[in-house]
Amino acid sequence: MKSTVKEIQERFDADVERFSNLYLGQQSTIDSVLNMELIAEGITRTYPKKIKLLDIGCGAGNYTIKLLTKKKDVAVDLLDLSEPMLARAVQRINSHGPTAVKAYHGDFRTVNLPGESYDVIIATSVLHHLREDADWSENFSKIFRLLADGGSLWVFDLVKQNSDELQDLIYSELYGQYLAGLDGEQYREKVFSYIEKEDTPRPLIEQLDLLRRVGFKSVDILHKNLSFASFVAYK
Ligand SMILES: C[S@@+](CC[C@H](N)C(=O)[O-])C[C@H]1O[C@@H](n2cnc3c(N)ncnc32)[C@H](O)[C@@H]1O
Repeated sequence: MKSTVKEIQERFDADVERFSNLYLGQQSTIDSVLNMELIAEGITRTYPKKIKLLDIGCGAGNYTIKLLTKKKDVAVDLLDLSEPMLARAVQRINSHGPTAVKAYHGDFRTVNLPGESYDVIIATSVLHHLREDADWSENFSKIFRLLADGGSLWVFDLVKQNSDELQDLIYSELYGQYLAGLDGEQYREKVFSYIEKEDTPRPLIEQLDLLRRVGFKSVDILHKNLSFASFVAYK
């Protein structure tokens, strides 16, 4: 049985510190610092004017803060399941400088948000909590509806391989080695066991196809390293 939304919330409520370091990023994900830089710089170059941003599953705000170090004219909406995460994100953004911030607390599937109003949506290390096919397609459609014309979605996430053999090699073996190299065998087992309990990642190509199916005009891959990928979809 996979974790319920409440169980996921409780785990993140107790884990704020791990998501509060802009210089290390989330180390259990591969190339987290590079992906923060790519997404923040990509948004900055794509949108020279003022933007309205939604950060879904913002955690302690790393991605939004990284963007604010490059681009000042951003109206920020944050959304997270965990109140302690949201509170930390708001506090860090406020201490970074004067920015309009609005925080939404709850499950992104059900929170009511203003339609067709965002220029940019960031969703990092969160969409892998979507479960069955309908959950993925309904919520990719929801994200599409939230974006204004010309808006875009920026994602960094754990992804699966299509073939079991490659999943074994790329995830179990090579990503496992990366985790053990960070903090030993026990750390690898700890991360693997919470992924097993909590996450239902989908293959990268499947997600890109689905984004096009729900209406996005074009998609682009920013980066892939082992079982982590970043990508963008334009409305
Ligand atoms: C792995 S953290 C990533 C945080 C941040 N995006 C980052 O990359 O640093 C995942 C975040 O998503 C939030 N989250 C998980 N499921 C969610 C859901 N269904 N709706 C909204 N937030 C969710 C968690 O509370 C947590 O703060």
